[in-house]
Amino acid sequence: MNCLLKKLSLLVLIGLILSCSAEKEEPVIGLITEKAMVVSAHPLASEVGSAILKKGGNAIDAAIAVHFALAVVYPEAGNIGGGGFFVIRDKDANYHSLDFRERGPLNSHQDMYLDENGEVIERKSIKGHLASGVPGAVDGMVKAFDKLGSLPWTELVQPAVDLAENGFELTADEAAKFNRAVENFQTYSSIDPVQFTGKTWKEGDVLVQSQLAETLKLIRDNMREGFYSGPTAAFIAAEMERGGGIITLEDLEKYESTWREPLIGNYKDYKIITMGPPSSGGLIILQMLGTMEEYQVSNDKGKYPDYIHLKTEMERRVYADRAAYMADMDYYPVPVSDLLSKEYLKDRFLTFDPERATSSASIQEGKLLSMSEETTHFSVIDSMGNAVACTTTLNGGMGSSVVVDGAGFILNNEMDDFSIKPGHPNMFGVLGGEANKIEPGKRMLSSMTPTILEKGGELFMVVGTPGGSTIPTSVFQVIVNVIEFDMGMQEAVNAKRFHSQWQPEVISYEEGAMDERLQSTLEAKGHVFVERGGIGRVDAILKLPDGTLEGGADPRGMDTAAGF
Ligand code: GLY
Repeated sequence: MNCLLKKLSLLVLIGLILSCSAEKEEPVIGLITEKAMVVSAHPLASEVGSAILKKGGNAIDAAIAVHFALAVVYPEAGNIGGGGFFVIRDKDANYHSLDFRERGPLNSHQDMYLDENGEVIERKSIKGHLASGVPGAVDGMVKAFDKLGSLPWTELVQPAVDLAENGFELTADEAAKFNRAVENFQTYSSIDPVQFTGKTWKEGDVLVQSQLAETLKLIRDNMREGFYSGPTAAFIAAEMERGGGIITLEDLEKYESTWREPLIGNYKDYKIITMGPPSSGGLIILQMLGTMEEYQVSNDKGKYPDYIHLKTEMERRVYADRAAYMADMDYYPVPVSDLLSKEYLKDRFLTFDPERATSSASIQEGKLLSMSEETTHFSVIDSMGNAVACTTTLNGGMGSSVVVDGAGFILNNEMDDFSIKPGHPNMFGVLGGEANKIEPGKRMLSSMTPTILEKGGELFMVVGTPGGSTIPTSVFQVIVNVIEFDMGMQEAVNAKRFHSQWQPEVISYEEGAMDERLQSTLEAKGHVFVERGGIGRVDAILKLPDGTLEGGADPRGMDTAAGF
């Protein structure tokens, strides 16, 4: 009997051990490399960047090559007709940020998307020729190269020329994506210059983009002039005339990207180097991290609802601040230091109740003490220790759906990131006001958050994502997953995400993010939920304690890490 009992207890014990180990999932680990890495939205672009690093190029060279390659292989967001931001930490720990955001055309004006009754004309800021800001991407690549590049410029553009000229095979998902885009291209483009339309694409088809290849050759051979003057500029001006757009040769000639001071903040013993205005992204993550420093967070099942509640309450407040105070600093005095001061953040959170959701209607922007969804991100670290975070965008998927006839590239629809009418939400549902109104030459407010972290003075992480208004909160969550929840890079990127943004007053979550306990605990506090598709596509690199690199390539897309 005794023996039988012993055997039974042993069986129960083994069963318990087996069921525990079945429940506990092995942590996912991303690509590990010794020296250098690129993580981007497309395997071919990551390969291009890795090849540049292998032949001795630095992270800036690789980033430029990846950017041009993405314009070919990932045309829904990779671009030469859009804009973005670089955040760079060089090997000597100098910090740089480059703003190559699009600008409002010289003929743009505050009411350009309103009818005679002052009502918003639906989709006018989103599709078609009037939706585009003056593109900044090519000037941005040239500026970054002039200051920090090392290989010959032509070698950085040539891989993109080859991809456009020789073509590349489409996956089933890519083919479906182009097929879905056909209708908009036919509606908004004058002709069919990039072979996205006019046929039904299927897996294995080779996409050749001959006009784009010629434009890239002009950029390869003439740098800035290959885009902002000569044939490309003439094609853009002619396209605008044909479609009733307002970008002129003068707009193109006058466009300049701008080196700005990066936004720098601290969280515990980490330094965060990120993008300041005209992006709201850096301010948002620093406000959230600054507020969270006062709280203990945990991802243990019992404590996780408290973290999501805290995060949502922080989001409600910072997105109200975004609407009121954040804009292009060249046109509006964004109160950066006030928004980040400890006193302000504390004051802002006095109404926080750990047990109840605060209604967004009761939240206004803070009282100052003194006074957009298709984008793409890539991260690069080279063997010398240079690190680049770059987020770049056309704004919505396939931008304005206007292809420049003769030049073969898609123009952005970034004008929708301005506040086209006070209180009218943009395509990401975020509100804006006076600060972000349309003005000629001004840059529209962004949420892009290319970010680099240091720990103890050493490079620690490079991170960023697409996702419109969800960008800062996705970057925030990945940082917290690593710093507070001890996840590795890939695991932190894979983890399910939540997002909230003041208005609309809901917590959106990815399928599989919510469990019963989490939902009931948060509902009891007064929160409302909406399930949605993937939130963001984070591409990040973590420097591990032994000096190797772990890539976090987002499984929500085809994102891929490559390196050596
Ligand atoms: N167009 C998306 C953003 O800049 O936030």
